[in-house]
Amino acid sequence: MNIIEAMKERRSVRTFDGRGITSAQEAELEKAISESTAPFGGKLSIKLKKFNLKEGYKPSTYGMIRGAEDFFLLGIGSDEASALSAGYRFEQVVLRAWQLGLGTCWIAATFKGSDFEKGITWPDGEQLKIISPVGTAMKPSLTEKLTRLTIGSKNRKLFNSLFFFNDFKTAVPEDNQFREALEMLRLAPSSTNSQPWRALVDGNSVHFYYKPKSPASVLDTGIGICHFHETEKFYGHKGEFSTVSGAPVPPENWKYLVSYKRAE
Ligand SMILES: Cc1cc2nc3c(=O)[nH]c(=O)nc-3n(C[C@H](O)[C@H](O)[C@H](O)COP(=O)(O)O)c2cc1C
Repeated sequence: MNIIEAMKERRSVRTFDGRGITSAQEAELEKAISESTAPFGGKLSIKLKKFNLKEGYKPSTYGMIRGAEDFFLLGIGSDEASALSAGYRFEQVVLRAWQLGLGTCWIAATFKGSDFEKGITWPDGEQLKIISPVGTAMKPSLTEKLTRLTIGSKNRKLFNSLFFFNDFKTAVPEDNQFREALEMLRLAPSSTNSQPWRALVDGNSVHFYYKPKSPASVLDTGIGICHFHETEKFYGHKGEFSTVSGAPVPPENWKYLVSYKRAE
């Protein structure tokens, strides 16, 4: 399965087979962690650990995880670059897991005093902010179906309400060079499916913004930018990210994050 298919097919998985991952799968996931990168700096550690959670796990946020033994844990710095990098980097691992036939579910919650924190120390300035189960998916339980329905997990906002061309009013033309990469961004997962990402296509550049919706909005946008860049790389396009001082000022309360420039 190529990365485009993985982005199209991936969904959050909350019901697992209870068997845990094999040592071969564990090795592949550790490799995916070590190969994941982010061009935005910040502080981030990703660990993979086994836990005995027979009763299932109910985050302080929403959802219910059943039948998982293996979890990714993300220690993240408190600045914007760390949040952006966490989204961008861990989504690479999520997509790799899907290609290996394994499901995951990003969970942003409070883990203070939980089993997930026990016996783990993080580098200075990092805190456990995200976990994700990983394993073989089972048919979604009724609770999982209800969670998906309540959040509207299947739905995504319309392309033309998120992405713009030259100004913040004009739609991106159907044949624009960034159309497919933005379409893949649109499919990314986000906290409560809030889809805070926004973008403006400007010649060979794309400026990325977010609409503040929750404490996870910058991280969510990092996930979306990962999908965008994976698509660029899949089609052999080279480009770089940088912060542009004169980035177009958006309407409303959107906040500028970073710009991507495709090499000529
Ligand atoms: C940063 C982040 C935090 C999330 N937190 C939770 C959570 O606490 N509980 C949960 O059940 N799902 C959580 N999700 C999963 C989202 O609800 C899910 O990605 C979204 O509804 C879209 O559905 P899909 O991933 O199946 O496409 C989170 C996703 C992200 C990206």
